[in-house]
Amino acid sequence: MANGRDGTAQLLITDHAMPQMTGAQLIAAVGQPAPSPAPLAADAPPVATGPAPDLSAPAPTPTDPAIAVPTPPPSAAGPEPVTPPIATEPPGGSGTWSEVPSTESDAPTVTLEGATDASPTESGGSPILSGKSPLHQQLEIKLSALTGYPSVLVFNSGFGGALGCASGLMRKGDVAIVDARAHISMVDGLKIGGAKIAFFEHNSARALDEVLSAHKGSRRLIFVDGLYSMDGDMADLPALLDVAGSHGVGILVDEAHSFLCCGATGGGVVEHFGARGKVGVQYGTLSKAFSCGGGFAAASTDLVEYLRFYANTYGFTCALPPSVVAAASAVIDVMQTETWRRTQLWENATYFRTQLQSLGINTGESTSYVVPIVVGENRALLYELGHKLREHGLFVTPVDYPTVALDQARFRASVTASHTRELLDQALQILEDVFVPAMREKGLLHARAM
Ligand SMILES: Cc1ncc(COP(=O)(O)O)c(C=O)c1O
Repeated sequence: MANGRDGTAQLLITDHAMPQMTGAQLIAAVGQPAPSPAPLAADAPPVATGPAPDLSAPAPTPTDPAIAVPTPPPSAAGPEPVTPPIATEPPGGSGTWSEVPSTESDAPTVTLEGATDASPTESGGSPILSGKSPLHQQLEIKLSALTGYPSVLVFNSGFGGALGCASGLMRKGDVAIVDARAHISMVDGLKIGGAKIAFFEHNSARALDEVLSAHKGSRRLIFVDGLYSMDGDMADLPALLDVAGSHGVGILVDEAHSFLCCGATGGGVVEHFGARGKVGVQYGTLSKAFSCGGGFAAASTDLVEYLRFYANTYGFTCALPPSVVAAASAVIDVMQTETWRRTQLWENATYFRTQLQSLGINTGESTSYVVPIVVGENRALLYELGHKLREHGLFVTPVDYPTVALDQARFRASVTASHTRELLDQALQILEDVFVPAMREKGLLHARAM
């Protein structure tokens, strides 16, 4: 919880473990070398004619056709495939990072030494046409290290990257097997690609098995979120991976809400469950714990090379501004060195959730820092309470249908590492004074835990 612009205490500031970086100062402080066309033309011409990326689980069964490369569109025909030169070492020369302790609470300010006079806001165009700056390459390398995959593709939007991955990977005739609560960005991408979408009951290994069995013979890929953004529960990866493996089908995990926060080193739910090497693609956004903007896909080099030319939201749009890239890169450094932020985040989340439950508040299926405060089917009450809580100084976002089921209207609280115990207690007190009596009056409150 922090003071909003109008002085209102806010519980929902940002997702989740992100250090409270001073964005404007950071951007002002960051300069970077301009992308010089020739040596930085890191992306090859669009000639994805090589073998298809293998999206199947580690040991595909013979009955499950391997993912084949869709016939390249006519415009993609061209000279022999060229492997884009993905740097394996951080680019040298242009500058080194230094973290300057902030005067404001525990928020670090990150600056880039050796800044040049190039624009921090202009990326120079699509990475396919204009290449990538050393900063962009450096971010890819850091994300590779974070995820453990050899290659990473950075998109200029979290939603857009998911859209591009899903539409690029799955085509007409394919079947996408999707958790019923997966984020809409992947689902919309699948619609664009023309694949059949077969939903399975949220987090149910049994339902996944049934849906996979009903779609044998098709090219298939499973889509789940690492941590569900409206419920705060994690994908049951061990069970889902067992089923996926028994069908020889691969899995994509959208870790938008879990990178930097879950796993011993911030490698997401995949790392949390020790599932590295079993997941075909890890997708993430740079807008949540990174507090920047953009998205990325981490996978095998083959798959990333494939996406480079088939995820249109990568190739046909301008790359992220260098300042944003620099900020995201700096956040990775902060979260690698200041590991106490992750510990603090989980301590805060557990404290807040348990205290809510002891007030009789329904926190749904949350096991994390995304904490639903469920109202139920009384949607009018949701908005009424939203205003009242705000008047008392607490801002929690209302989440209504169709984002959640009609009878599951709720507030969503996002606990962060920066919340002090005092702020969390203040938020709890406001909920006890305002939310609890109103819910009790309507007979909607859970029995108070003893
Ligand atoms: C699971 C998931 N994927 C993708 C996105 C899109 O990310 P962005 O907001 O960075 O565009 C979100 C946004 O909330 C999300 O929750």
